[in-house]
Amino acid sequence: MIDALGRPGRVLLLGGTSEIGLAILAALPLSSDTEVLLAGRDGKRLAELGSSLPCPVRILYYDATAVESHQAFADEVFAGGDVDIAVSAAGILVPQSELDRDPLLAATLVDTNFTGHVSTLLAVAGHMRAQGHGALVVLSSVAAVRPRRANFVYGAAKAGLDAFAQGLADSLRGSGVRLMLVRPGFVVGRMTAGMAPAPLATTPEAVAAAVADGLVAGAGTVWVPGRLALLAVLMRLVPRPLWRRLSR
Ligand SMILES: NC(=O)c1ccc[n+]([C@@H]2O[C@H](COP(=O)([O-])OP(=O)(O)OC[C@H]3O[C@@H](n4cnc5c(N)ncnc54)[C@H](OP(=O)(O)O)[C@@H]3O)[C@@H](O)[C@H]2O)c1
Repeated sequence: MIDALGRPGRVLLLGGTSEIGLAILAALPLSSDTEVLLAGRDGKRLAELGSSLPCPVRILYYDATAVESHQAFADEVFAGGDVDIAVSAAGILVPQSELDRDPLLAATLVDTNFTGHVSTLLAVAGHMRAQGHGALVVLSSVAAVRPRRANFVYGAAKAGLDAFAQGLADSLRGSGVRLMLVRPGFVVGRMTAGMAPAPLATTPEAVAAAVADGLVAGAGTVWVPGRLALLAVLMRLVPRPLWRRLSR
């Protein structure tokens, strides 16, 4: 449970090596008693990263594409106690040109960025409903607003995730559980290494600070930076013949 000082008792990070996810953990008011569950595929790396956190850490195997395992995964997580905050941060970004040549890789991207979140978040939300409290943090993207020619499989997966998360948030109303949708723009970091930053580029630390503030404020949607919300309105208004000319 969240204590009187606002510190969570247990936090789950899905995609436990995620740069943004780890920055979120660093921005949360963790106590020395908070148990952090780092869930991911690379146990050794997760253990290394976990050793730098100022609280007990448990490593769990989690593959976002193994949808058949997600209910059992969630059952195992909650068998250890309530979870106050679950951050869904698994994701991959692959150049569109590579996906054009490899449809199977495109399907893996969709499984990782969308389908796997659906099965995992439904299983986690079911447990949170039963415990009667908790916050889900879902990392969508500005790419969800309007998929671009240069990045349309990623954009379509994020649009699916974004729509799913909005519906799940609405369905959780009155349950004591809430879902916060996070829409960052271009985040300079590991996922975007080698790419030229887009306008309004941000950092994992800025995303994390916005998430921590949003959790305290009870926000439903968080744009990072905030000015992206206005840009998103304009993006939707651009006529299609012009939109398709965007080269990135
Ligand atoms: N970076 C950006 O510009 C940006 C912008 C908007 C939204 N986002 C979203 O924010 C989230 C976090 O991104 P990030 O910048 O922190 O990227 P990151 O550092 O590359 O982290 C991605 C995470 O996803 C995990 N992952 C990938 N495939 C997985 C699978 N099959 N099963 C389980 N975990 C898997 C990775 O684990 P491994 O270590 O095992 O690969 C890693 O923990 C993603 O959903 C991303 O789409 C990022």
